[in-house]
Amino acid sequence: MKNSSRRGFMGIAFGAVAGVGAVASLYAMKKSWDPLPSVKAAGFTTLDMSIYQEGVMVTEKWRGKPIFVLKKSADFVAKEQSNPDAVARDVQIGDDHFMIAIGLCTHLGCIPAFRKDSNDFKCACHGGEFDASGLVTMVPPPRGFDIPPFKIDGNKLVLGEAGPEWQAMKDNGVTL
Ligand code: FES
Repeated sequence: MKNSSRRGFMGIAFGAVAGVGAVASLYAMKKSWDPLPSVKAAGFTTLDMSIYQEGVMVTEKWRGKPIFVLKKSADFVAKEQSNPDAVARDVQIGDDHFMIAIGLCTHLGCIPAFRKDSNDFKCACHGGEFDASGLVTMVPPPRGFDIPPFKIDGNKLVLGEAGPEWQAMKDNGVTL
């Protein structure tokens, strides 16, 4: 009798420990599945565009893809005006101008590196190059960087939502 009640106690104790362990591991698994805090439901990522500095290329993430965010300098914006293809890709938020692009080479999908000194991008895989507007300056990439769907919301940019500015780019063949 004494033995059987001891076995019963041990069973309950083991069960409780196993239960706590299972809950803890489920919690840890769920945490690893959860999106980053910057990623909202349904694959939207909202960027606060007031935090970026001129000429500093920042790689953000949207739906697992690298997103290049480059705030252009006033000099660069002035120079860009003579190139309608570059102007067509420009994302203006308030007085600031940005290059926003999916950071994957349009040749075979490598991630090009930003070269601060020349203010452009070089793809190490096959030598493709892109300027700071996202246009191809050296083949083999067949087109400029693709531009993710975006919506301008005050000084925020919502990636994953197709606003009128992005829709116009798509309709005009600026991006796929
Ligand atoms: Fe970039 Fe080929 S993948 S040049």
